[in-house]
Amino acid sequence: MKSHVNLALVGFGTIGSGTLQLLKEHRRDVEARVGAKVRMKWICAKEYKYPQLIDKTIRKTKNWQDVINDPDVDCVIELMGGTHPALDVVTAALKAGKHVVTANKAILSKHWNDIFGTAERMRKLVYFEAAVGGGVPVVQALNEGLAGNKIHKIVGILNGTTNFILTQMQETGASFDEALKAAQVAGFAEANPTFDIEGIDAAQKISILASLAAGQWLSPDHVTSEGISRLQSTDSRIIQERFNCTIKLLAIAEKTPRGWILRVHPTLVPNAHPFAHARNEYNAIALHGNAVGEVMLYGKGAGRLPTASAVLSDIIFISRQIANGTAGRVPYVSRRDHQTVEFGSMNDVRCRYYLRITTLDKPGVLSKLTGILGKNKVSLASVHQDTFGNQSAPSSVTVILLTHESREADVQASVKAIDRLSTTKAKTVLLRME
Ligand code: HSE
Repeated sequence: MKSHVNLALVGFGTIGSGTLQLLKEHRRDVEARVGAKVRMKWICAKEYKYPQLIDKTIRKTKNWQDVINDPDVDCVIELMGGTHPALDVVTAALKAGKHVVTANKAILSKHWNDIFGTAERMRKLVYFEAAVGGGVPVVQALNEGLAGNKIHKIVGILNGTTNFILTQMQETGASFDEALKAAQVAGFAEANPTFDIEGIDAAQKISILASLAAGQWLSPDHVTSEGISRLQSTDSRIIQERFNCTIKLLAIAEKTPRGWILRVHPTLVPNAHPFAHARNEYNAIALHGNAVGEVMLYGKGAGRLPTASAVLSDIIFISRQIANGTAGRVPYVSRRDHQTVEFGSMNDVRCRYYLRITTLDKPGVLSKLTGILGKNKVSLASVHQDTFGNQSAPSSVTVILLTHESREADVQASVKAIDRLSTTKAKTVLLRME
């Protein structure tokens, strides 16, 4: 039994400072849960924006090696973000015999086997609740709460920034740029917001959750991913008014008879579905287990204190095991290299599709469009024509087609053919409906 657990924080930005703030505010409760003193021994950062949080007992350094070289440090909390040098910090910490807490979805999703392989060899723990879902404890739900299930489907709004942008555009009429700026000011967005907007952040997160469900690494390279940058306010208006739906950027991992299919794309969600009510930076995640059925989690997926709450809960669980001397006895990994993962093809996804086609308003155009869809075995549920055109093709009209459930490959083939027509004046926008 150890009487003290020594921590080192590497990265002292929005989440790092939030974590130290929570640790200080909740110290008595944290130590009661751990059963030992929990001390922040080091902070490693380029700059110290929150000096009021750093008391005299904490050592400061700009060199992360100082932390790794200190034999008293039990656990390194990596909150630098990005890949370099974060991956080196995590790897060096494990090799130096330290446990790790990280919020870094980029390194976990890309270097899963290396990180957990090192952790397994060193019999050290890597906890990463804050890497997915901000303050929503989805990692723990998959690892512990639902461990008695085979999870075959995960559907989530996993990116707070895009959810914030979509909500603001829909509810306040804010432009994309205005909404993005507000998300950045609130501290939701990644350092490079393209990661949020183009679905990369959500792809990394669904790769992590799917890996936990599959019990082996499903790299983000297997995620088919589309972002929200091609959406126009027209889409969200039509989708609300005509189809009683809301657009959400969904991340979906599903084990089909042909294997896992992982995808991220803007999706029409019926207004009656709970996901439609997850507004702004909120995340919502539905986990489908064979025994439990559907379990839904909902909460703030981004932001300083919600994310720090997840980091602190990892610190508590790891510290408790360090204090009790049980950390690493049963290495926490999900790495089964001997099995091959089967992946299904995106072409086989079946759902309903929304197509926004920008076309010349001429006799025979509609019959050409419906003819192409019919030839590709895509059945139409409804057709709408509006007189407004695409912003970049003012003399055109907008035709919205909603299909019955169809196969992705057939719809993609139709869209290709439609976009080749001389009457089509802009690239067709395709959205899926879940
Ligand atoms: N940029 C991320 C988001 C932060 O918007 O969800 C949390 O991972």
